[in-house]
Amino acid sequence: MVSLLTKIFITFASWFGNTEAVAKEIGKGILQIDGTEVAIKKIKEVNAEEVLEYDAILIGSPNHMGGPTRAVKKLIDKLGNLGLEGKKGAVFDTYVRKNVHVGKTVRKMEKKIKAKIAGMKLIVDGLSILVKGVRGPIAEGELSKCGVWK
Ligand SMILES: Cc1cc2nc3c(=O)[nH]c(=O)nc-3n(C[C@H](O)[C@H](O)[C@H](O)COP(=O)(O)O)c2cc1C
Repeated sequence: MVSLLTKIFITFASWFGNTEAVAKEIGKGILQIDGTEVAIKKIKEVNAEEVLEYDAILIGSPNHMGGPTRAVKKLIDKLGNLGLEGKKGAVFDTYVRKNVHVGKTVRKMEKKIKAKIAGMKLIVDGLSILVKGVRGPIAEGELSKCGVWK
């Protein structure tokens, strides 16, 4: 049987739970669209091959020293080996250094994806969410931005 569902896979790195909360909020927004199915998984639990059964792959990372975490970079490298022809992708980050580091990590992830994952098409600009301290919480009003992917 042909599935009419759009299957979305969301994976994230998160040391203190903030990027995880963003991932869940994005997932909630996407589920409001008819015909979507969402799976959310911690990056360390992801087996790269499992993304092959999804139509779109969203990857989230906290900003660590101005870029994605090592686990995120490793996953992008592994996904690159799979080619991922025809898959859609998008990225999100959380960061603390207001103004200075907004968008910095998502831009690095996008650059790496473009360089490594030949078949993936980034469908929307990366989303960057401000947190108020290294451990959070997420700053006021930021979670509502997660609806951009609705
Ligand atoms: C080792 C480390 C390095 C960090 N470096 C930066 C940084 O360069 N710029 C920044 O804005 N935030 C930085 N942060 C703050 C993280 O962005 C923040 O801890 C993260 O967004 C919280 O998300 P999480 O709860 O999902 O881990 C750093 C945090 C850690 C733990």
